[in-house]
Amino acid sequence: MNSPSAAPSQPTIDPAAFGYQWSDALLTGDARMDHTHREFAEQLSTLLATPAKDQLPLYQAFVAHTVAHFAQEDRWMQATGFTASNCHTDQHAMILETMQAVVQHYQKGETEIISRMGEALAEWFDQHAQTMDAGLAQHLQSVGFDSATETLADAAAIREVTVSGCGSVSCS
Ligand SMILES: [Fe+2]
Ligand SMILES: [Fe+2]
Repeated sequence: MNSPSAAPSQPTIDPAAFGYQWSDALLTGDARMDHTHREFAEQLSTLLATPAKDQLPLYQAFVAHTVAHFAQEDRWMQATGFTASNCHTDQHAMILETMQAVVQHYQKGETEIISRMGEALAEWFDQHAQTMDAGLAQHLQSVGFDSATETLADAAAIREVTVSGCGSVSCS
């Protein structure tokens, strides 16, 4: 007869609770964007697995990577008909401002703040990549923009289009 105690008790471990893991659900279909996103996920994962006292240089490199990551997408939006102020670009600016402010707090002694920010970013990024970034990738493809060379197959494809919204399925 089987008793409940006969089964070896396996502790349930959720790896996500100890860091951050890339998922193919985050793929947008744009190879260059996905490459940048994998780097973002790897850096975030390493950061969250690092003790607070050693996080600052990793975090500063992560912020620098994110500056370039967001600038790349903003540049692609500008090249394909988005207005300078659109909610995707605005969200990038807001996130970066918050990320940069964290450095000063850490330096003033709030050393747990980088992990808190990292956890918030893990949640934010999954949502952002699957909505705004996926929408942007779809838009780039629809207008014939090659993100590898940052060129448009036919400039006329965007002449008629001015995108002031997100160009994605969600603007929240
Ligand atoms: Fe992105
Ligand atoms: Fe984005």
